[in-house]
Amino acid sequence: MAGAVRSPVHRTAIAVRPVLGLLPLRNAACTCQSRDQQPSQLSTPSSNLAPSRNFTSCTTSRKTRNSDSWFSNHSMHHTMATGDGVASSNGGGEGSRRSLFFPRRAVMYVPACDERKVLKTTTISVDSIIFDIEDGVAANKKDVARKSIGAAIATSRRDDSQSSLSEHVVRVNGVGSGLMNLDLREVFRSCDSHGVSPDAIMLPKVESVEHVAELDLCLSFHRLSLPPLPLFIMAESPLGLLHLHHICHFATHGTRHLRLAAVVFGSDDYLASIGGVRTDSGAELAAVRQAVVGVASANGVAAIDMVSTNFSDLTALREQADEGARMGFNGKQVIHPAQVPVVQEAFSPSEERVEWASRLISAFNHHQHSGQGAFVYEGHMIDRPLLLQAQNIVSLHGNQSSNK
Ligand code: COA
Ligand code: MG
Repeated sequence: MAGAVRSPVHRTAIAVRPVLGLLPLRNAACTCQSRDQQPSQLSTPSSNLAPSRNFTSCTTSRKTRNSDSWFSNHSMHHTMATGDGVASSNGGGEGSRRSLFFPRRAVMYVPACDERKVLKTTTISVDSIIFDIEDGVAANKKDVARKSIGAAIATSRRDDSQSSLSEHVVRVNGVGSGLMNLDLREVFRSCDSHGVSPDAIMLPKVESVEHVAELDLCLSFHRLSLPPLPLFIMAESPLGLLHLHHICHFATHGTRHLRLAAVVFGSDDYLASIGGVRTDSGAELAAVRQAVVGVASANGVAAIDMVSTNFSDLTALREQADEGARMGFNGKQVIHPAQVPVVQEAFSPSEERVEWASRLISAFNHHQHSGQGAFVYEGHMIDRPLLLQAQNIVSLHGNQSSNK
């Protein structure tokens, strides 16, 4: 595991277990502290170990939008993973979750210390905004960044803003940096003083269940009885990839103050940690990207594709975004406003595709009634997997239309 040895996150004080179950938390060395509490006073609440969440009651309220979308984003993946098919994907509880759907097609980073860029968000209609305190912010600006979050969210949510209904996420520094708890403390102080709350937290450089457990524990001191926050985790190292399913499972069932919403692939950190080189074709990343989609899908959450750093080449961006959509990603990280419409269009199904999918679903239902599982439709053999893909398209279209 040469790459892992080179990874800076390896320097974390938390022991990384090669084989992860869901019960290592009591041994996790916690470095977080509340506003008034010293680390020595802390202990891991036993309730952290219990999968006690009531999903349907877990909502963050802001205006009319509900960022409960992680379900949504992937009730369809639940369908694929469980094989429940038509009935479960359209019926009962899943139906009500879908109504809370919120797309995450373009996920745009904004350095939280940069007032000009924060103001610029008010002119951009983008699904998700990540106010960054991590790698997009210089070390000597991190304090400004963490203290600016409340004002940044309040500005971006102004009634006259194009981004008023965007999802506002805060990317803190990773557990291995030793800065995460300070970030959280200042973020929530700053949000309190502006009367706002982030819609979600993004945790970078996640390599183990313990990283998520530490964030969950820190939140227990900063958010008290508030409902769980949607969580974006970044998979961006070989260890993070190897442990991804356990991390996702824990972040979905084992946390108290968080619930997993999305897995975000950090390509540049990943390549740095394995000593790889990025090429135009991206062949060196294809397998790992597909693995991220698979694990996110198995855990019923969104998968967000890598950044395209050449923000002036929008043609190449469109090709990369189309490729990501074909691979099963639900959205893509962007770094510049010009990338937003290109990416959002690439991750939206075309009218023709929606019509095709609707016709296919009708035809499938018709053939089911006459007892035919597989049948020929517009020159192609159709069976259940194709039906599920068609349902994804119709669902995504319906949910985007009702949220935008
Ligand atoms: N969010 C909001 N506004 C942005 C923006 C962003 N990420 N990137 C650029 N803008 C704004 C600029 O402020 C400028 O608006 P203005 O004229 O009103 O000030 C406009 O968009 C055009 O910007 P441009 O001059 O083309 O780019 P730049 O040189 O200002 O910035 C980057 C280029 C790459 C430094 C900038 O896009 C950026 O910081 N991106 C985020 C990087 C990041 O967070 N990386 C970490 C995650 S991978
Ligand atoms: Mg990174």
